[in-house]
Amino acid sequence: MRRIRLGVNIDHVATLRNARGGSHPDPIRAAWLIREAGGDQVTAHLREDRRHITDSDVERIAREVDLPFNLEMAATAEMQAIALRIRPHACCIVPERREERTTESGLDVVGQEAHLRAFVKPLLDAGIRVSLFVDPEPAQLEAARRVGAPCVELHTGTYCNATGEARERELRRLAEGARLCAALGLECHAGHGLDYDNVRPVAALPEVVELNIGHFLIGEAIFVGFVPAVRRMREILDEVRGVS
Ligand code: PXP
Repeated sequence: MRRIRLGVNIDHVATLRNARGGSHPDPIRAAWLIREAGGDQVTAHLREDRRHITDSDVERIAREVDLPFNLEMAATAEMQAIALRIRPHACCIVPERREERTTESGLDVVGQEAHLRAFVKPLLDAGIRVSLFVDPEPAQLEAARRVGAPCVELHTGTYCNATGEARERELRRLAEGARLCAALGLECHAGHGLDYDNVRPVAALPEVVELNIGHFLIGEAIFVGFVPAVRRMREILDEVRGVS
């Protein structure tokens, strides 16, 4: 199997910085270390309420970090304008509710098909790779295809939160979703809630080409350091894929 791409989400370096309102720890410093740690891209979510990553952070990532930048954002006019101005390598469109603690479910592509088709078109025209963050539901994947997005990111949160039989069932849904992506010609990514253990069966799905992982890695970084934490994830992914 091919080496899997690892996007490291640095949102929670910004969460820690913002707890004191100063400039430390700097999420851009983490972004600079991703390559050395074996990561392939920097991922950051500019939320409507700017609770962690700020406008200045995304400007600096785009300007100062020599890695592909995957900007996660809601399908709003404000975010579209920011993306068209800073031109990240990729945009992952996510649903957003102000009161949620994190992104709790996938986009309702079926319910917003016309809006999303119009929303992604200028991004695609600007050469930005667009993915839609969706639950592994066949109807959502088929709608993502119709919208014209070349990629989807399967929401792994329900799988990660489940235990026992329910987790097995969620893993089967992810596996079927990944297979359907391939059949529809969609590039398949996955992310949310992944850690060193639960990532293994997801990384073993051959259709998945990219994972985006944040909270767990930043948490581990507190104990072992950022580079060792990300490097361990890289080792696990390479082990699962049989890459030396
Ligand atoms: N992918 C998407 C689309 C997300 O919104 C998030 C969380 O911002 C992640 C991946 C990373 O999730 P986690 O921080 O739980 O690893």
